[in-house]
Amino acid sequence: MLLSVERMGLLQRFKSFLYQQMVKYQVILYLLPMLQPFAKYFAGTGSKGNHRITDKSGKSFPVCKLNGKLFPAFGLGRLQTIPDVSIRRDDVLLGGYPKTGCHWVHEILHMLVNGKSELTKYGKGLGGMIDAIPDIILDSLSSPRVLNSHMLYDDLPKGVKEHRTKIVITVRNPKDTVVSFYNHVRNLEEFYTYTGEFNDYFDLWIEGNVDYGSYFDFYLSWDELLKNPERHPVLLVKYEDIKAQPMENIKRIAQFLEVDVTDEFVAEIVEKTSFNSMKSKRAKDMSAKLFRKGKVGDWRNWLSEEQSEAIDKQWQKKMQGCIYQPHYNE
Ligand code: A3P
Repeated sequence: MLLSVERMGLLQRFKSFLYQQMVKYQVILYLLPMLQPFAKYFAGTGSKGNHRITDKSGKSFPVCKLNGKLFPAFGLGRLQTIPDVSIRRDDVLLGGYPKTGCHWVHEILHMLVNGKSELTKYGKGLGGMIDAIPDIILDSLSSPRVLNSHMLYDDLPKGVKEHRTKIVITVRNPKDTVVSFYNHVRNLEEFYTYTGEFNDYFDLWIEGNVDYGSYFDFYLSWDELLKNPERHPVLLVKYEDIKAQPMENIKRIAQFLEVDVTDEFVAEIVEKTSFNSMKSKRAKDMSAKLFRKGKVGDWRNWLSEEQSEAIDKQWQKKMQGCIYQPHYNE
């Protein structure tokens, strides 16, 4: 009995030693390019969801349901361990509801904190998506890291509060966001397997019956922090603003991060993170389909008058006093 306890302890120590060495020498990052061609075989959600969302025509997709909240089918195992994800002092965290420009802003942040105008090797997902990526990859990433998540503040890793990690939240007008989210869910076929129509998806989305829940509740909850900056350093970045005035907005982000930048460097970031530049860099990646149109105002091609009004009504009902107010005069 004593021997087996001793053996277990030894095994545990060996495992932890192996983990530390793998992380230190970034072994997994070297293996990733070799594993990437097989990624599509792992992308199917199958057993990773514990719940299905069904639209009114009977079309459905798998999700994870945890403590009453809905998440993509990343697996309960991952979602339950998020509070314990290890956070470093110099980490930056990117938040934002899905489809509000997170991949774009992730690259901007990465360039700013690393002082290099180069797109990341793997993009936002493998580059620090804490909701889905295993700890061994996150722990192997070099500092300064730009971690990212679509979680609410209270569901983020505990270390974010402890270190007062700087948080950048992206926001995009809700009408373009729902269009982009629908296309996301349809285009990631292996992951969602959803074949529903836009009108049916819209009804789910406006009720918050989708992964990561209601857009409105999401921004309502972050609004609390934006109005109380002494609680936590949070910066809100609007998709439409970066589109219209990229230089000014990148400088605003740099100021928040306390990073000194020159006009030349910011101009390089603007060029390297243009939609076309990012789309071509990711052309062969799993994320390729996420670079769809990259425009402001595509909702006019998708939403009926009633759907547009339904969003306006939700806004009036829930979001009147919020700092962020969308505008649609693109
Ligand atoms: P569309 O589906 O409207 O094209 P996220 O990164 O949060 O998933 O958001 C994805 C949306 O941002 C997609 O919108 C995508 O095309 C757009 N996007 C990605 N990179 C962009 C860039 N460099 N410039 C502008 N939009 C970009």
